[in-house]
Amino acid sequence: MKEKILVTGGTGYIGSHTVVELQNAGYDVVIVDNLSNSSADVVDNIEKISGIRPAFEEVDCLNFADLESVFSKYQGIKAIIHFAASKAVGESVQKPLLYYRNNLVSLINLLELMPKYDVKGIVFSSSCTVYGQPDILPVTEQAPIKKAESPYGNTKQINEEIIRDTITSGAPINAILLRYFNPIGAHPTAILGELPNGVPQNLVPYLTQTAMGIREKLSVFGDDYNTPDGSCIRDFINVVDLAKAHVIAIHRILDDLQKDKVEVFNIGTGIGLSVLQLIHAFEKATGVKLNYQIVGRRAGDIEKVWADPALANNELGWTAVETIEDTLLSAWNWQLKLREKGIQ
Ligand code: UD1
Repeated sequence: MKEKILVTGGTGYIGSHTVVELQNAGYDVVIVDNLSNSSADVVDNIEKISGIRPAFEEVDCLNFADLESVFSKYQGIKAIIHFAASKAVGESVQKPLLYYRNNLVSLINLLELMPKYDVKGIVFSSSCTVYGQPDILPVTEQAPIKKAESPYGNTKQINEEIIRDTITSGAPINAILLRYFNPIGAHPTAILGELPNGVPQNLVPYLTQTAMGIREKLSVFGDDYNTPDGSCIRDFINVVDLAKAHVIAIHRILDDLQKDKVEVFNIGTGIGLSVLQLIHAFEKATGVKLNYQIVGRRAGDIEKVWADPALANNELGWTAVETIEDTLLSAWNWQLKLREKGIQ
């Protein structure tokens, strides 16, 4: 029998790619999403790729009764991947209570329901933002958690603690916290990808929209950082590679392979690339010249961060395999597809 996995935020950017990989691995997926930052078409697009239509419930994880009805409707949910969250750093500074409510209460609701419905474990979408500016690079999971730079970042830290405290208190569940670095790119079919609402805040969607002529110019936020070319350094991880890490984490929970009831893994490539290097890699991969300018630093940006992914490589048997060129090409093909469909 296929094991049933609940994916909250399953129509979102990382969630949708993960649903496809779960289906490819033989899992039965139930998506819960309130469509606050995605659309129901994504369910069709998932089906186009995998050939299997996932169950979909338009439910807000903040609504306990609605969420509970999903567990009773789809009996036998074995594990959860919890993506559903608000994720705009800048907006979180303007609307902290919205972020604390959305991101904390959704998780609390799930954790309360898990024992009642015999759900074995949860994979949580965490972020390298919990490390702030690490003292040592590449950063390992042992690095200290630094004071969060934004309410968004704080919700990731607090949620990690909520999970730990719940399990320490004896709740009969397990967890894997995946700390993502910077997910980019799209599905190689160009049927799924990132579709930000309004003006993109993240680098790659802004970059591809600029290359397409939707935006006039990409602003590079700062060239006076203490890095070789002066721009910030990130660890850009292909979204399909990232999605596959979730499938391995689910398998690990369900097959009792965990060494601790709560495990943490960095999910990155181990390669630090500067913003300017990324721009040049995009130009090389696509042959499209990008209009960009250097502007001042963006408040709250970390100077440089990249992962030590050794633990994930060795323990999970997971490694990022896609090249940056192929990944940027996938982002560009997705942007071209959006144009073709008249979306952007
Ligand atoms: C941020 C969060 C991360 C979160 C992610 C998702 C922090 C420290 N990081 O990542 O936790 O998961 O957003 O939203 O809170 N840049 C430009 N021009 C642009 C846009 C970005 O130069 O138009 C630069 C930024 O200054 C940064 C790099 O590109 O150096 C990456 O930025 P971005 O894609 O926004 O991701 P992070 O800020 O790294």
